[in-house]
Amino acid sequence: MPLTAQRISPGYLGDVCQEESNRLRAGEAVQKLWAGQPGLWKDDSGHARTIANRLGWIGVLDSMRAEAPALQDLARYIKDSGVSDIVLLLSGPNLNLLGEREPAVYGTDRLDDHVETARRVAAAHGLVIEHLQSNHEGELVEAIHAARGRCAAIVINAGAFTHYAWALHDALAAFDGPIVELHLSNPNRREPWRHTSVVAPVATGSIVGFGGDGYRLALEAVAARLGG
Ligand code: DQA
Repeated sequence: MPLTAQRISPGYLGDVCQEESNRLRAGEAVQKLWAGQPGLWKDDSGHARTIANRLGWIGVLDSMRAEAPALQDLARYIKDSGVSDIVLLLSGPNLNLLGEREPAVYGTDRLDDHVETARRVAAAHGLVIEHLQSNHEGELVEAIHAARGRCAAIVINAGAFTHYAWALHDALAAFDGPIVELHLSNPNRREPWRHTSVVAPVATGSIVGFGGDGYRLALEAVAARLGG
């Protein structure tokens, strides 16, 4: 016989449900539940142990809060024991073509060569480089967001995004830590549209026009700022 609404509504169980609900209310069941009292349903000790375990989640927030100072101590200890700070190195659009692209302007070294320079100089100062090259503004914005509170500094050659990508400007403005704007060429000596930088106003400083040496200079500047 198919189940009907009549059969699954409290129907004839209505009185029993009401009675049980009254009993739980009179016994302050909800209050006891939140207080984690294991004797709520039955009194025997085996059952009490099981219920106490199952109600463990109720105290999770409080116990996590209590752990916070210990976690902060641990973070301080890790930092003091010389674990490296991360420097986020960002490369904007078309920089993946370095080496082939306009070598008279950008030189013949490839992006990997510059990243290697940055890594070497960083390592000498106890820093590690995390590098991302992207031709997509949003991806760079997300990398900057993900660096907040995690990376100590940012070095950014934003390529042509430098001249108009205000979303990069805003993302960088929300980063606490030194920011170095970096360019292989000196955009100020080039076409007028390259004279505007939306990165410069939110950067600690800019290193432009020194070719590949700029990567060394940028990392030296970051290390000096971080006191390394
Ligand atoms: C560049 C300068 C930008 O104007 C240009 O769009 C680039 C490279 C540089 O490193 O010189 O892509 O950022």
